[in-house]
Amino acid sequence: MTGISKIKMSQAHRLHRARRSADITRMSSVAEDNPDIAEAIRFIQNKIPTKMRTGTSQLIKKVVTIMHPMLNIAVKAARRAGNLIHRATDKIDLLTVTKKSHADFVSEVDHVAEQTIIQTLLEAYPDHAILAEESGNQGESDYLWIIDPLDGTTNFLHGLPQFAVSIALQHKGIITQAVVYAPSSNELYTATRGRGAYLNDKRLRVTRRFHLSDSLIGTGFPYSKFEHLEAYLAILKDLMQKTAGLRRPGSAALDLAWTAAGRYDGFFETGLKSWDIAAGCLLVTEAGGMVSDLNGGDTYLETGHLCAGNPDIHPQLLQVIAPHLTTSLRGK
Ligand code: IPD
Ligand code: CA
Ligand code: CA
Repeated sequence: MTGISKIKMSQAHRLHRARRSADITRMSSVAEDNPDIAEAIRFIQNKIPTKMRTGTSQLIKKVVTIMHPMLNIAVKAARRAGNLIHRATDKIDLLTVTKKSHADFVSEVDHVAEQTIIQTLLEAYPDHAILAEESGNQGESDYLWIIDPLDGTTNFLHGLPQFAVSIALQHKGIITQAVVYAPSSNELYTATRGRGAYLNDKRLRVTRRFHLSDSLIGTGFPYSKFEHLEAYLAILKDLMQKTAGLRRPGSAALDLAWTAAGRYDGFFETGLKSWDIAAGCLLVTEAGGMVSDLNGGDTYLETGHLCAGNPDIHPQLLQVIAPHLTTSLRGK
């Protein structure tokens, strides 16, 4: 590790400590207005004999709303990496940048952030396996952490603020924990399967918009491999005329987080990687949205062809996309 990297890491650790208490205090405010948690508290209370119930509600509230320990570690890792990336935004010109393929760049910040995340996760769970964008696979386990240390590297390298750290945990093939952290805005998106999605301490819901013509749709342009370009442009041409607008900010993890947060009504892209989308997909479904491949199936983590949206807009997007699907875009 270089001297600069070490300094950045120790600064990141200090910053992380300062913010961590905010993650913990999220729990009590979440409990106040969350119907699921209120329901869970009532359920547990009803199991306790009446004469023993006094004073239990506060305790139950605490237990029910405590962040899942694995999510807690993922948040810790994402904040460490995010702080490190944020610090580096002042020194972009000094960074070593390598070209992986046409228009696909990686900087030393991507590598250091990834190592920081892996180290944090494996310190807590040494037996878990890792799939990380820059360093690939390590270990074998039912628990697989899927990591994109810096989603939106091109934006980061050009001084644009739309980039994020994305960490998901897959257990026996099912994504169970998700964190997307945007250092520029200090927005922390989290989800645990079955327990909802949050932006900081606010519960997320997808939009309630019914009509595609009123909808704002996010997407990502093909930029490195162009095998699906013609089909993609045909879809884009249709959607330009059938929606209220299209956006391409440049980070698929954030695009999905924004869909979960109700900033977009839907999102689609082709040729993504599992580390771009694993966390974001859980955010969307836990916020009440739908995620599929472009054919309405469930192959999106393998194929990287993805369509997401609120339950009304998602099928309408698929309908526009359908006539343009080639065999390879259709998935398995
Ligand atoms: C990229 C971003 C971008 C998407 C690309 C991804 P990276 O990730 O998510 O929005 O369009 O397909 O590769 O390379 O910046 O980690
Ligand atoms: Ca990515
Ligand atoms: Ca990346």
